[in-house]
Amino acid sequence: MKKALALGVVIGLAVSGAIAGYFYLQNKGLNEAELEIARTLSLASLRPLPADLSNAVADDPAAIALGEALFSEGGLSANGEISCATCHIEDRQFQDDLALSNGIGTTDRRAMPLRGAGYALWLFWDGRKDSLWSQALGPMESSVEHGFTRSQVAAYIAEHYRRPYEALFGALPALENTPAASPLGSAAQQAAWAAMSAEQQDQINRVFANTGKAIAAFERTLLPLENRFDRYVAALLAGQVPSGSAALTQQEIDGFKIFAGKGACVNCHNGPRFTDEFFHNTGIASPQTPVVDFGRLDAVAQVEADEFNCLGRYSDAAPARCGTLRFMSRDEHLFERAYKSPSLRGVADRPPYMHAGQLATLALVVEHYNRAMPSISGHTELEPLGLTTAEKAALLAFLKTL
Ligand code: HEC
Ligand code: HEC
Repeated sequence: MKKALALGVVIGLAVSGAIAGYFYLQNKGLNEAELEIARTLSLASLRPLPADLSNAVADDPAAIALGEALFSEGGLSANGEISCATCHIEDRQFQDDLALSNGIGTTDRRAMPLRGAGYALWLFWDGRKDSLWSQALGPMESSVEHGFTRSQVAAYIAEHYRRPYEALFGALPALENTPAASPLGSAAQQAAWAAMSAEQQDQINRVFANTGKAIAAFERTLLPLENRFDRYVAALLAGQVPSGSAALTQQEIDGFKIFAGKGACVNCHNGPRFTDEFFHNTGIASPQTPVVDFGRLDAVAQVEADEFNCLGRYSDAAPARCGTLRFMSRDEHLFERAYKSPSLRGVADRPPYMHAGQLATLALVVEHYNRAMPSISGHTELEPLGLTTAEKAALLAFLKTL
């Protein structure tokens, strides 16, 4: 009898809770399909960080500590001042608020925020790198970023980080009197590289790659942060009426419905990082830089030829585990001026937007999607949306909850 009564109370509570939740959803919240999309976008759907088999120290605490130090180490640059942290500023979502970044020179593209980059299949706007550690090698040898060479990186590590390096990776080779040398540097640096023996080149490459692996271990600890939208969805999924810091305004909810529906934004900005990890031409104008930028089209060959890719000799992964690289798409029709869909977490707080900061405000981004101008070359995947002024304002309000 007591048991039956208790059961009755439990059922009663469950039913009234469900009814309250149902009415909430019906009246001002989301329908079932929208709630399901919201769930897939929320942080609750973020799976644990996948292992990086190409980096044996990816989750090693000693590598994380070394990588954290190297991330803001100015000594790994031509003028002793530029580090990763110059353009990836912690308080600014690990980006720099600029359309183009300033290192030793000026970059051709916009710096990208780093939280959650450990989940990315491809790195850079065009995805010309297939791992975080391989990515980290690029800026060190870029003439406009750190302006350094791999031999100088190796020599600097030997001089200033010998102990933590050797504890992780074993004994360093002899690097005294190594000239500035790289296959990618100036003519003099390339000549110095060519003058080295294959063994010497391999030793330097290995120290260089390991330096990237330590930096990558640190970057993997930079995870996405909870936002208002996540709290709102968590409350809905728990059957509660979102309130306080979990509440969204009706306009913000309307904006989500456009994001998930009429705006078709979720076609490319999906999953808990708001990205499909793929490349799309969205008709963004060329930046005012001297280089003609074809995006993913050129990057496919670059990542394939990269000696630091998953299949290369400095990778710790067995070739069979490099499926992302081996089976990558090569669709030339799709890839001309295609760029990686960026995560939209924290997006309202980091103008300007797009791969070279072409759009100054989030309102201009919404306008860009609404108009869907043709691409200057290649083919845009967008079509005009026909959003009303109120719908555009709602979409903008939703983006600010992220
Ligand atoms: C001078 C500024 C500058 C410096 C210094 C710099 N970066 Fe970047 N970073 C950029 C720019 C610009 C991009 C986008 C470039 C592109 O797509 O071609 C970028 C992209 C990235 C990405 C890709 C993120 C993604 O989601 O694909 C990562 C990771 C990254 N940088 C990490 C680093 C690390 C690690 C260092 C130090 C070894 C570093 N950066 C140094 C400007 C900089
Ligand atoms: C066809 C795929 C696709 C669709 C659909 C799409 N996006 Fe994007 N989005 C991208 C790509 C790719 C970029 C980067 C483009 C570039 O830099 O050239 C981007 C960039 C952005 C940015 C700039 C982020 C940054 O950090 O610079 C915002 C904001 C954005 N999208 C919001 C939206 C909204 C809102 C919608 C729906 C109206 C939408 N997107 C629909 C693929 C898409």
